Amino acid sequence: MKNLKGKVAVITGGGSGLGRELALVCAARGMHLVLGDVDEPGMQETQRLVEEAVPGTRSVSMKLDVSKLAEVQALAKLAADTFGGAHLVFNNAGVSSGGPLWECTEADWVWVTGVNMYGVAWGIKAFVPMMIEQDEGHVVNTASAAGWVNSPGGGIYNAGKHAVVAISETLALDLRDVQANVGVSVLCPAFFPTAIVDADRNRPAELADTAPMSETRKRREEMVRHAVSHGRLSAAEIAEMTVKAVEDEQFYIFPHKKIKQLIKARAEAADQEKEPFDTMAGR
Ligand SMILES: NC(=O)c1ccc[n+]([C@@H]2O[C@H](COP(=O)([O-])OP(=O)(O)OC[C@H]3O[C@@H](n4cnc5c(N)ncnc54)[C@H](O)[C@@H]3O)[C@@H](O)[C@H]2O)c1
Repeated sequence: MKNLKGKVAVITGGGSGLGRELALVCAARGMHLVLGDVDEPGMQETQRLVEEAVPGTRSVSMKLDVSKLAEVQALAKLAADTFGGAHLVFNNAGVSSGGPLWECTEADWVWVTGVNMYGVAWGIKAFVPMMIEQDEGHVVNTASAAGWVNSPGGGIYNAGKHAVVAISETLALDLRDVQANVGVSVLCPAFFPTAIVDADRNRPAELADTAPMSETRKRREEMVRHAVSHGRLSAAEIAEMTVKAVEDEQFYIFPHKKIKQLIKARAEAADQEKEPFDTMAGR
């Protein structure tokens, strides 16, 4: 989608981290904003920052849980009622929890997969028909490097992000099949500094964390916290790269180029048929 000025951007997870930076980049392009997040004060802060950076930007927000289809459909209705539609949808809300797979609870699976995988599925279901109808649109799904290469202790997150890559590729093919004028991109960053390491702050009480804090889990959490806080690219830089990739009609977005080497190494491990590829080996 080449010209974003005057178009409508919808951003889930718009109350923090990458979602907030995407809002700022889209506002700078002259877009109107529709934000969705469980964190209402977070979205208000994003709107305040947008107003400060690009005064006069039109924006609305809705408190919602992306794992619930009806709530994402209500966000689509808000976009249609307020701005007459949605052109650029970022299915971006995401959470993380970790630990060896046999220690993860049913609640861990329901919570993380609900947000990371169903959140993307419902964003597509709620917004793509509107885009096909208006004959214009672009969907950006936030996956991760973890959608391609796996490290120990991140099983549920890895599974959900692999699903987001699969869903995005299939969506692009489905849209091509019907010759729809709707683009797709899948964003696959490595670690970068945001509040994702404290994703539990928005975890629903009915899906509370009851998994044991084993030594393995503790080690994994410390490693992720360190890697996220030391990420070389900022959320702002990744947001700018992402919107530029939409303008360039690019499907795969790898802000950290090293991930492509790891994907090749994984393919090589598969070719060898011996050992599972370990992203963290040698770190
Ligand atoms: N930070 C990283 O290292 C990293 C790396 C790769 C991919 N990602 C992905 O980037 C995306 C954005 O995460 P971030 O790093 O900015 O983290 P963040 O925690 O700063 O932002 C995530 C946002 O999602 C919102 N959210 C959580 N659960 C929700 C729900 N059920 N419904 C609606 N909103 C919900 C949170 O309130 C928060 O505002 C996620 O999909 C994440 O998996 C992050």
